[in-house]
Amino acid sequence: MNLADLNKVAQAMVAPGKGLLAADESSGTIKKRFDDINVVSTEESRRDYREMLFRTTEAMTRCISGVILYDETIWQDARDGTPLVRLIEQAGAIPGIKVDEGTQALPNCPGELVTAGLDNLAGRLKKYYDRGARFAKWRAVIDIGAGHGTGGRKIPTMTAIHVNAHALARYAALCQAAQIVPIVEPEVLMDGDHDIDRCYEVSVRVLNKTFQELRIQRVALEGMILKPNMVVPGKKNPTRCSVEEVATKTIRLLKTCVPAAVPGIAFLSGGQSDEDATAHLDAMNRIGNLPWRLTFSYGRALQAAPQKAWSGKAENVAAGQRAFDHRARMNSLASRGEWKPDLEARKAA
Ligand code: 13P
Repeated sequence: MNLADLNKVAQAMVAPGKGLLAADESSGTIKKRFDDINVVSTEESRRDYREMLFRTTEAMTRCISGVILYDETIWQDARDGTPLVRLIEQAGAIPGIKVDEGTQALPNCPGELVTAGLDNLAGRLKKYYDRGARFAKWRAVIDIGAGHGTGGRKIPTMTAIHVNAHALARYAALCQAAQIVPIVEPEVLMDGDHDIDRCYEVSVRVLNKTFQELRIQRVALEGMILKPNMVVPGKKNPTRCSVEEVATKTIRLLKTCVPAAVPGIAFLSGGQSDEDATAHLDAMNRIGNLPWRLTFSYGRALQAAPQKAWSGKAENVAAGQRAFDHRARMNSLASRGEWKPDLEARKAA
């Protein structure tokens, strides 16, 4: 492992004013997104959609440091035969790859999941590196249950937190051995009816266990990026929290759990509205004086608007690109703590 080179890539992923585009939806997930805009999900429509994003010049050159791809996409070519990874590189961004293989039921822990994909990972990483990937992503999913699971256990169980943290660290160590920067993503879901303080408490346990496993497995923190959830109430909780409360509690969480050696933290949007995801990131960067760079690695909060504007029609490609440009610019400003709500009204015409 060449740690100086890994660190260089990690620093570039969180360069000032830039963040990551998570375009790594599995075929199942992108089908759900396309269903919402009445587009049939085929290899070709998925390619056309992603080509539209990667050819959005302003967003890609100024606001996006790297793109997380799904296995199908990393091997696809644009309509003119250029590999999609080359389009990303030509824009000055770094291609990355999601390498987990989704979740499976966790034995002995009803209702909980563990992320799969460690088998053959070393071999797959080599192929992805040769294709141009310089970073990877693995997502662990931790749910917050309403009450007590079977046998009186609360969700999340210590078991689920432990096995997922262990798998994240196994993945991260394999990535670094393959000269690929791991994005370590332990996502505490915002699906439940829990309040913001329960999210905080579970996120502390999850991040502490994750960094403990990373230490045990000798992962070099300077050569990774953390992709956490923000501290927010569950979607089914009727109490809404202010932007300031989310920002303050998320920063407190990160200061408590994330060593300063980690170069950057790139948040997932997790089902927040586009504007909430931007406002929260902005408020955290306004707090400032932090040991790591804070930016975005959004999927839905960057893509919902362009998907809607495009709606699968060739004549809407320019509108889709304008919508992507706008969200990318808003989040770029937020990553510097320079976003203002009134900029949202002035959408690119
Ligand atoms: P969202 O921003 O839509 O949560 O997606 C980010 C991601 O990569 C989840 O794994």
